[in-house]
Amino acid sequence: MSATAPAKLKVKTHPLVDAAHENLALVYGEWPNTVFVDGCGCELISDRGERFLDMTSGIAVTALGHRSAIVENALKRAAEGLTHTSNLYLTPPAVELATALVNHSFADRAFFCNSGAEANEAMIKFARLAAGEGRSRVIYFDHSFHGRTFGALSATDKDAIKTPFAPLVPDYERCRFGETTDFTKIDETTACVLVEPVQGEGGVRPATKEWMQALRRRCDEVGALLAVDEVQCGLGRTGKLFAHEHFDITPDLMALAKPMAGGLPIGAVLMTEAIADALHPGCHGTTFGGGPVVTAVALAVLEAVSQPAFLENVTRKGAFFRSRLEKIHSNLIEEVRGMGLMLGVRVNIDPKRVMKAAWNHRLLVTTAGADVVRFLPPLNATDDDLNDAVERFATTLAELEQA
Ligand SMILES: Cc1ncc(COP(=O)(O)O)c(C=O)c1O
Repeated sequence: MSATAPAKLKVKTHPLVDAAHENLALVYGEWPNTVFVDGCGCELISDRGERFLDMTSGIAVTALGHRSAIVENALKRAAEGLTHTSNLYLTPPAVELATALVNHSFADRAFFCNSGAEANEAMIKFARLAAGEGRSRVIYFDHSFHGRTFGALSATDKDAIKTPFAPLVPDYERCRFGETTDFTKIDETTACVLVEPVQGEGGVRPATKEWMQALRRRCDEVGALLAVDEVQCGLGRTGKLFAHEHFDITPDLMALAKPMAGGLPIGAVLMTEAIADALHPGCHGTTFGGGPVVTAVALAVLEAVSQPAFLENVTRKGAFFRSRLEKIHSNLIEEVRGMGLMLGVRVNIDPKRVMKAAWNHRLLVTTAGADVVRFLPPLNATDDDLNDAVERFATTLAELEQA
């Protein structure tokens, strides 16, 4: 690469990090001066042999931890078979995964794609088709995040990532999360209401049961479809296989992605037969969606995370982790919130400062919204892993308090 690298690039000392700053598109901010080459469970290991305790799970993706035997074995088996056929032809794992997802959920049919944004994009398109003429409006909520493609971005409540790409998709309207008085905006012109039962990027905010049930009722009153985005909170993260189960509601559509294949890219839309009836060949599609390798791995992950004992354990560990976080004595902590193993600690300083300081204690956490440090450990993290995370976090906060 050129001698004319933009001045904004910081020169690092690790040759691969330098190369990343020179050759990768710089859409992700600055990387730490480290590359990871291996891992095990909650640990990520750098090329210098440093071991980090990973409480991010690749942003809720590696739900069974790094180098999971379940994922690796399924991947090795799948690697000995077909890699790709396209959706012109069927392969067994895609059909088996669709069947398993349908059997485990409210849904009658599944559509496979490759990411969370794509799943939401498809979900909105399917909702508009099913809603029919005169009903194109999409309702979304403040603090929402649904992805970076135009349809999903239009439903995302973050001006900084939307404004540069205007004009976005028309006929989207924002309501306040948790507020029923805004429901008047949901009317006979609404195709669907798009909601995260537990908001992730926007600050780890669980909906209340009363509000979700009122939202379902309002959708029914006016004939709007309820589309839940469980890309981050779905598939066991909250202690139920699907987060909406906590609220005793049944959605019309659901988007899944992040943890589905334990680290490989996949997304899915699950839907009722009434929605599926509105679809027709050619109305939507994707070349890679539902490939035999990724669906074989997703099947193995689903088999693991859908076990009742596994889900009970997530609930127990979530309560344990939360209570340990709540016991940290720090003036920097305002609140601990979340569900299961999707927890946020609201702090009264910039959470990015906490994230960076935690790095020095080899603890990996991420942020959510303007003031939350987010913990998304693997769903099979041990009590010792969680205790270790709490201790490193407490030390980090104590150090920051003294600074
Ligand atoms: C709730 C939710 N929906 C959608 C997305 C977008 O997923 P992806 O990054 O796979 O496109 C995310 C990503 O963080 C998410 O948290």
